[in-house]
Amino acid sequence: MAVHVRASLLAALCLLLELALLGAAEQLVPAMFVFGDSTVDVGNNNFIEKCQIECQAYYPHFGVDYLDHAPTGRFSNGYNLADQLAQQLGFAESPPPYLSLSNTSLISRMSTGINFASGGSGLLYRTGNGPVCTQVLSMTEQVGNFTNLAQSWASTNNGSADLLSKSLIFISTGSNDLFEYIDLRLGSNDTEFLHGLVASYAAYLKDLYRAGAKKFCVVSPSLVGCCPSQRATVGDPKDRDKYGCLAVLNNLSSQLYPMFATMLQDLSLELPGMNYSFVDTIKLVDSVLENPSTPSYNFTVLDTACCGEGPFGASGCNFSVPLCPNRSNYLFWDEYHPTDAASGIAANMIFNDTSGLFVHPINVRQLVEL
Ligand SMILES: *[C@@H]1O[C@H](CO)[C@@H](O)[C@H](O)[C@H]1NC(C)=O
Ligand SMILES: *[C@@H]1O[C@H](CO)[C@@H](O)[C@H](O)[C@H]1NC(C)=O
Ligand SMILES: *[C@@H]1O[C@H](CO)[C@@H](O)[C@H](O)[C@H]1NC(C)=O
Ligand SMILES: *[C@@H]1O[C@H](CO)[C@@H](O)[C@H](O)[C@H]1NC(C)=O
Ligand SMILES: *[C@@H]1O[C@H](CO)[C@@H](O)[C@H](O)[C@H]1NC(C)=O
Ligand SMILES: *[C@@H]1O[C@H](CO)[C@@H](O)[C@H](O)[C@H]1NC(C)=O
Ligand SMILES: *[C@@H]1O[C@H](CO)[C@@H](O)[C@H](O)[C@H]1NC(C)=O
Ligand SMILES: *[C@@H]1O[C@H](CO)[C@@H](O)[C@H](O)[C@H]1NC(C)=O
Ligand SMILES: *[C@@H]1O[C@H](CO)[C@@H](O)[C@H](O)[C@H]1NC(C)=O
Ligand SMILES: *[C@@H]1O[C@H](CO)[C@@H](O)[C@H](O)[C@H]1NC(C)=O
Repeated sequence: MAVHVRASLLAALCLLLELALLGAAEQLVPAMFVFGDSTVDVGNNNFIEKCQIECQAYYPHFGVDYLDHAPTGRFSNGYNLADQLAQQLGFAESPPPYLSLSNTSLISRMSTGINFASGGSGLLYRTGNGPVCTQVLSMTEQVGNFTNLAQSWASTNNGSADLLSKSLIFISTGSNDLFEYIDLRLGSNDTEFLHGLVASYAAYLKDLYRAGAKKFCVVSPSLVGCCPSQRATVGDPKDRDKYGCLAVLNNLSSQLYPMFATMLQDLSLELPGMNYSFVDTIKLVDSVLENPSTPSYNFTVLDTACCGEGPFGASGCNFSVPLCPNRSNYLFWDEYHPTDAASGIAANMIFNDTSGLFVHPINVRQLVEL
């Protein structure tokens, strides 16, 4: 009897070990490299001295639902989109912030991935380097730092091209360019402005491709006019769209979406072996706003920030403002960013949407299997 128990215990242990190994083997790409803004920053801005508090999230209530309830620099109550996509891809941990790594660990981390994203940044160099956030890692710096590392890596590791070409490049950027264009009245020719964003995006993607990347997941700016911060700015009711959001801003992101889609399609024809998943976060947010409380979403509060006070809770999040108790029922965590619950739904869609509605032409599961 005792022997039998021990034997089955052993069998159980073996099974557990096997499962653990299987778990490890399930990591679907060797590495994941993350670029963009606060939707995917995991703490780079903590290391930027001149970064003002508006561009950091290294204090409570940020991270209230993270491990140990600790703020980390993630602009969320818990995990953000980069973390949650890394989880879907089977990584044990989210790629660490570039600025947290020493020169030697930077090189070794190339084999599993690094996060270059910086809250406040955008496609244009000036975005995030103006009056609000005074110094962020621009996309130019993010991409430049990656390509430099890719070169060092290539000179020390044979077969590195293979590693990079199998890895996932994950980019979520563009929203801050739109916010600043409207807030700071940076121009009057929308078409010209949007074409400028598309051109700089294409240039970054080409740089990444030349450094050896082949698989790209690009997240388009969503209905950014629906952020509590933007809802709170609308005075005249005729400036609102059907959702009560700042119409002019949602108009810009809606115009930008098809422009990015065309740019990506053209690039994939031009660059041999390039493949991509393009995420329609506008359609995704549309779907949430139309059916907020279905079991696939469970949102009851769509317009107000969980952490914040005043109209739409848009004051900004810090330790002295109120915090909502049921975070998973809120679409927005603070005046700009989704809750862990909301970005988790997006990550799941990005990875595995098979409806053909939200990710084009293929989802990330299909992309990494190529
Ligand atoms: C790290 O690398 C950068 C660029 O390659 C170099 O400028 C810097 O001096 C290095 N830092 C250390 C501590 O070696
Ligand atoms: C890379 O990162 C450093 C900060 O570590 C920054 O000073 C530099 O300008 C960045 N850009 C490039 C192109 O390497
Ligand atoms: C690099 O790898 C290729 C095959 O992947 C091999 O043919 C070549 O000899 C290797 N070069 C060095 C310097 O190890
Ligand atoms: C806006 O810019 C585009 C492209 O540069 C140009 O073709 C168009 O005429 C401009 N529109 C206005 C109203 O100036
Ligand atoms: C944006 O607004 C313009 C006029 O203000 C309108 O013609 C256009 O259809 C709108 N575009 C989108 C995508 O909503
Ligand atoms: C991957 O990209 C190649 C060209 O780079 C294209 O021919 C192929 O159809 C793409 N595969 C998918 C599944 O989109
Ligand atoms: C929504 O709530 C129901 C019931 O509590 C639960 O079964 C479901 O998983 C939740 N959906 C999400 C996306 O969390
Ligand atoms: C929070 O959760 C409680 C209990 O599930 C529910 O009664 C209440 O309506 C929720 N509040 C919001 C704002 O969703
Ligand atoms: C927290 O935010 C509130 C509302 O914007 C503001 O009045 C207060 O000064 C902030 N407190 C700190 C410590 O930043
Ligand atoms: C992905 O979608 C397929 C088909 O709908 C489903 O069978 C599978 O369980 C999903 N996987 C994950 C990780 O959600």
